[in-house]
Amino acid sequence: MVNIMVKERTFVMIKPDAVQRGFIGDIISRFERRGIKLVGLKLVAVDRDLAEKHYGIHKGKPFFEPTVSYIISSPVVAMVFEGDNVIEMVRTMMGKTNPIEALPGTIRGDFGQFIGRNIIHGSDGPDTAAFEINLWFSDKELAVYTRIDEKWLHE
Ligand code: RTP
Ligand code: MG
Repeated sequence: MVNIMVKERTFVMIKPDAVQRGFIGDIISRFERRGIKLVGLKLVAVDRDLAEKHYGIHKGKPFFEPTVSYIISSPVVAMVFEGDNVIEMVRTMMGKTNPIEALPGTIRGDFGQFIGRNIIHGSDGPDTAAFEINLWFSDKELAVYTRIDEKWLHE
Protein backbone atom coordinates (compact mmCIF):
# COMPACT_ATOMS: atom_id res chain seq x y z
CA MET A 1 0.00 0.00 0.00
CA VAL A 2 2.92 2.31 0.71
CA ASN A 3 3.26 3.68 -2.82
CA ILE A 4 -0.42 4.28 -3.38
CA MET A 5 -1.01 7.96 -2.62
CA VAL A 6 -4.48 8.89 -1.45
CA LYS A 7 -4.98 12.51 -0.44
CA GLU A 8 -6.92 12.53 2.80
CA ARG A 9 -7.89 14.61 5.80
CA THR A 10 -8.02 13.31 9.34
CA PHE A 11 -9.34 14.59 12.65
CA VAL A 12 -6.91 14.48 15.57
CA MET A 13 -7.56 15.42 19.19
CA ILE A 14 -4.97 15.94 21.90
CA LYS A 15 -6.94 14.62 24.87
CA PRO A 16 -7.36 16.31 28.29
CA ASP A 17 -4.62 14.32 30.03
CA ALA A 18 -2.03 15.41 27.44
CA VAL A 19 -3.16 19.04 27.64
CA GLN A 20 -2.97 18.98 31.45
CA ARG A 21 0.43 17.28 31.43
CA GLY A 22 1.89 19.86 29.04
CA PHE A 23 2.42 17.76 25.89
CA ILE A 24 0.59 19.94 23.32
CA GLY A 25 3.76 21.36 21.77
CA ASP A 26 5.62 18.07 21.74
CA ILE A 27 2.76 16.22 20.07
CA ILE A 28 2.14 18.86 17.39
CA SER A 29 5.88 19.07 16.80
CA ARG A 30 6.02 15.36 15.91
CA PHE A 31 3.47 15.89 13.13
CA GLU A 32 5.24 19.03 11.89
CA ARG A 33 8.60 17.28 11.71
CA ARG A 34 7.04 14.45 9.74
CA GLY A 35 5.87 17.00 7.17
CA ILE A 36 2.19 16.53 7.94
CA LYS A 37 0.18 19.63 7.05
CA LEU A 38 -2.02 21.21 9.72
CA VAL A 39 -5.16 22.75 8.21
CA GLY A 40 -7.30 23.28 11.35
CA LEU A 41 -6.44 23.94 15.01
CA LYS A 42 -8.36 25.04 18.11
CA LEU A 43 -8.55 24.57 21.88
CA VAL A 44 -12.01 23.29 22.81
CA ALA A 45 -13.80 22.95 26.15
CA VAL A 46 -15.91 20.00 24.99
CA ASP A 47 -19.53 19.75 26.11
CA ARG A 48 -21.27 16.45 26.78
CA ASP A 49 -23.33 16.57 23.60
CA LEU A 50 -20.25 16.90 21.37
CA ALA A 51 -18.37 14.17 23.28
CA GLU A 52 -21.35 11.79 23.03
CA LYS A 53 -21.66 12.43 19.29
CA HIS A 54 -17.92 11.97 18.77
CA TYR A 55 -17.91 8.61 20.59
CA GLY A 56 -21.46 7.69 19.46
CA ILE A 57 -20.19 4.51 17.79
CA HIS A 58 -19.24 3.20 21.26
CA LYS A 59 -22.62 3.94 22.87
CA GLY A 60 -23.70 0.98 25.01
CA LYS A 61 -20.14 -0.25 25.63
CA PRO A 62 -18.89 -0.25 29.23
CA PHE A 63 -16.21 2.35 28.50
CA PHE A 64 -18.60 4.81 26.79
CA GLU A 65 -19.57 6.86 29.86
CA PRO A 66 -16.05 6.96 31.38
CA THR A 67 -14.65 8.01 27.99
CA VAL A 68 -17.21 10.82 27.59
CA SER A 69 -16.50 12.01 31.17
CA TYR A 70 -12.76 11.96 30.42
CA ILE A 71 -13.09 14.00 27.22
CA ILE A 72 -15.20 16.72 28.89
CA SER A 73 -13.00 16.88 32.01
CA SER A 74 -10.63 19.55 30.66
CA PRO A 75 -9.96 21.26 27.30
CA VAL A 76 -8.72 19.35 24.28
CA VAL A 77 -6.81 20.47 21.18
CA ALA A 78 -8.80 19.69 18.04
CA MET A 79 -6.93 19.51 14.76
CA VAL A 80 -7.31 18.56 11.12
CA PHE A 81 -4.34 17.29 9.14
CA GLU A 82 -4.20 16.84 5.38
CA GLY A 83 -1.95 14.78 3.16
CA ASP A 84 -1.33 11.56 1.30
CA ASN A 85 -2.30 8.57 3.46
CA VAL A 86 -2.47 10.85 6.48
CA ILE A 87 -5.10 8.74 8.28
CA GLU A 88 -2.87 5.68 8.52
CA MET A 89 0.27 7.72 9.09
CA VAL A 90 -1.26 9.46 12.12
CA ARG A 91 -2.67 6.20 13.55
CA THR A 92 0.77 4.60 13.26
CA MET A 93 2.36 7.57 15.01
CA MET A 94 -0.26 7.36 17.79
CA GLY A 95 0.40 3.70 18.59
CA LYS A 96 -2.04 1.11 19.88
CA THR A 97 -5.17 2.17 21.78
CA ASN A 98 -3.82 0.70 25.04
CA PRO A 99 -0.58 2.57 25.84
CA ILE A 100 0.75 -0.59 27.52
CA GLU A 101 0.79 -2.21 24.06
CA ALA A 102 1.93 0.92 22.19
CA LEU A 103 5.54 0.80 21.06
CA PRO A 104 8.10 3.27 22.38
CA GLY A 105 8.47 6.02 19.80
CA THR A 106 4.72 6.25 19.31
CA ILE A 107 2.82 9.05 21.03
CA ARG A 108 0.85 6.72 23.31
CA GLY A 109 3.92 4.55 23.87
CA ASP A 110 5.98 7.56 24.93
CA PHE A 111 3.43 9.43 27.05
CA GLY A 112 0.77 7.02 28.29
CA GLN A 113 0.22 4.14 30.71
CA PHE A 114 -3.52 3.47 30.77
CA ILE A 115 -6.20 2.91 28.10
CA GLY A 116 -8.61 5.32 29.77
CA ARG A 117 -6.00 8.12 29.60
CA ASN A 118 -4.48 7.50 26.21
CA ILE A 119 -3.30 10.97 25.17
CA ILE A 120 -4.59 11.29 21.62
CA HIS A 121 -7.36 10.44 19.19
CA GLY A 122 -7.11 10.06 15.42
CA SER A 123 -9.81 9.12 12.92
CA ASP A 124 -9.68 5.42 12.04
CA GLY A 125 -10.80 5.63 8.38
CA PRO A 126 -12.07 7.96 5.65
CA ASP A 127 -15.74 7.79 6.66
CA THR A 128 -14.97 8.42 10.32
CA ALA A 129 -12.65 11.27 9.35
CA ALA A 130 -15.35 12.97 7.27
CA PHE A 131 -17.89 12.58 10.09
CA GLU A 132 -15.52 13.86 12.77
CA ILE A 133 -14.16 16.83 10.77
CA ASN A 134 -17.73 17.93 10.05
CA LEU A 135 -18.65 17.49 13.71
CA TRP A 136 -15.75 19.55 15.09
CA PHE A 137 -14.98 22.15 12.39
CA SER A 138 -16.80 24.42 9.98
CA ASP A 139 -15.42 24.76 6.44
CA LYS A 140 -14.30 28.32 7.23
CA GLU A 141 -12.06 27.05 10.01
CA LEU A 142 -10.04 24.87 7.62
CA ALA A 143 -7.20 26.52 5.72
CA VAL A 144 -6.18 25.82 2.14
CA TYR A 145 -2.48 26.42 1.54
CA THR A 146 0.72 24.81 0.31
CA ARG A 147 3.64 24.05 2.62
CA ILE A 148 7.02 25.00 1.23
CA ASP A 149 8.38 21.47 1.90
CA GLU A 150 5.62 19.59 0.06
CA LYS A 151 7.68 19.06 -3.10
CA TRP A 152 10.51 17.55 -1.04
CA LEU A 153 8.38 14.93 0.69
CA HIS A 154 7.52 12.80 -2.34
CA GLU A 155 9.09 11.83 -5.63
P1 RTP B 1 -9.66 6.90 19.63
O1 RTP B 1 -11.01 6.66 18.98
O2 RTP B 1 -9.74 7.73 20.88
O3 RTP B 1 -8.65 7.42 18.63
O4 RTP B 1 -9.07 5.53 20.09
P2 RTP B 1 -8.99 4.20 19.26
O5 RTP B 1 -9.62 4.35 17.92
O6 RTP B 1 -7.57 3.76 19.31
O7 RTP B 1 -9.86 3.24 20.17
P3 RTP B 1 -11.44 3.03 20.20
O8 RTP B 1 -11.67 1.57 20.17
O9 RTP B 1 -12.12 3.86 19.16
O10 RTP B 1 -11.83 3.55 21.64
C1 RTP B 1 -12.15 4.90 21.85
C2 RTP B 1 -11.59 5.36 23.18
O11 RTP B 1 -12.33 4.82 24.23
C3 RTP B 1 -11.49 4.57 25.34
N1 RTP B 1 -11.47 3.15 25.61
N2 RTP B 1 -11.43 2.69 26.80
N3 RTP B 1 -11.35 0.98 29.05
C4 RTP B 1 -11.43 0.44 27.83
O12 RTP B 1 -11.46 -0.75 27.62
C5 RTP B 1 -11.46 1.36 26.70
N4 RTP B 1 -11.52 0.99 25.44
C6 RTP B 1 -11.52 2.15 24.74
C7 RTP B 1 -10.10 5.04 24.95
O13 RTP B 1 -9.94 6.41 25.37
C8 RTP B 1 -10.14 4.95 23.45
O14 RTP B 1 -9.19 5.81 22.86
MG1 MG C 1 -11.55 5.18 17.64
